[in-house]
Amino acid sequence: MSSPVWHPFTQHGLSEPIPTVVRSEGAALWTADGRRIIDAISSWWVTTHGHRHPRIMAAIADQAAHLDQIIFAGWTHEPAETLAQGLVAMVPALRHVFYSDSGSTSVEVALKMALGFWANTNQPRHRIAVMAGSYHGDTIGGMSVGARGVFNQAYEPLLFGVETLPFPGPGDEEATLGALERLCRSPQPLAALIVEPLILGAGGMLIYPPELLAELRAICARHDVLFIADEVMTGWGRTGTLLACEQAGIVPDILCLSKGLTGGAMPLAVTMATPAIFEAHRSTDRAKMFFHSSSYTANPIACAAANANLAIWREEPVRDRVLNLATRQAERLDALADHRAIRNARQLGTITAVEIGDRHGSYLSTLGPGLLGFFRDQGPLLYRR
Ligand SMILES: Cc1ncc(COP(=O)(O)O)c(C=O)c1O
Repeated sequence: MSSPVWHPFTQHGLSEPIPTVVRSEGAALWTADGRRIIDAISSWWVTTHGHRHPRIMAAIADQAAHLDQIIFAGWTHEPAETLAQGLVAMVPALRHVFYSDSGSTSVEVALKMALGFWANTNQPRHRIAVMAGSYHGDTIGGMSVGARGVFNQAYEPLLFGVETLPFPGPGDEEATLGALERLCRSPQPLAALIVEPLILGAGGMLIYPPELLAELRAICARHDVLFIADEVMTGWGRTGTLLACEQAGIVPDILCLSKGLTGGAMPLAVTMATPAIFEAHRSTDRAKMFFHSSSYTANPIACAAANANLAIWREEPVRDRVLNLATRQAERLDALADHRAIRNARQLGTITAVEIGDRHGSYLSTLGPGLLGFFRDQGPLLYRR
């Protein structure tokens, strides 16, 4: 009987093989038919210390023995309190931590916080600026602030309009900054700018410099426009530092984290915000509360996994491991960069990208599935977005 499972980003009509994975350890996965595969996609960029890190597994087992899941509206628990304190210690200016369960929801929450801030301070603003080519998730809000394309064409009528800044590629930096400055000065001011700091991930691993990120932040600050950093992909060491924003020396007004928050072991996300944004929602008026929740908000087992992840970052030489990976990737990239099939080799921390020529060059290029099949047969698990 064929499987009833409907997989994400999978065209079932092509009947491509869907291997069953039975075990994971470190960088490896084992399939039901006994193959060992390198998880080169880090299970969709979530796994940061390798699979089944012993401290994270122990924290999950220990937490599961005590408290599984409780409602979080009006109730709390120690793993969520400890985690919030740990996160605030990482980014002290963002004193408030709102839990959700995926990167997309952390972005939805960020957008709602921004609009809620303006509504509750009686200055209704609702225009959101984004960077061309961005990706912020697959919910309606996430898609609305992300690039439009084949992935969201069918839902286009439901997506809300945004203001789009050109991507600050080499030579286009002034155009990006000028566009933001103009939007900030317009009679209908912006509510917020949302960016993927330093690198557009799913949009094609497009890198821009920390100085540009710092400039964008400064323009927003000058015009009282909220600055949202979506570090769902860039957080937890991917760009070489714990957070990408660190490299620009900036702190956003709102920060989205997920993926590596639990070291990749459990689904969890946070949206962190400044006291000003929290205070705009704090009132004796119940109509001003932050109207967002999902059933599994701050699941205690997921929070315990995240607490173990934070302890690993504090106590193990994670930064050295990140540096080591980045150095090894740079060496390999040097050897590859001149290959005639490869263009635009680039690197940021542990993210290394190359372009492989294809006349049609779109997401639907047949080169992608061909390469995937090749690598799947050779051993590494890759994925295209
Ligand atoms: C920058 C960014 N934001 C948001 C998301 C959405 O996260 P999730 O897939 O957990 O909903 C992703 C996922 O790749 C991402 O890269």
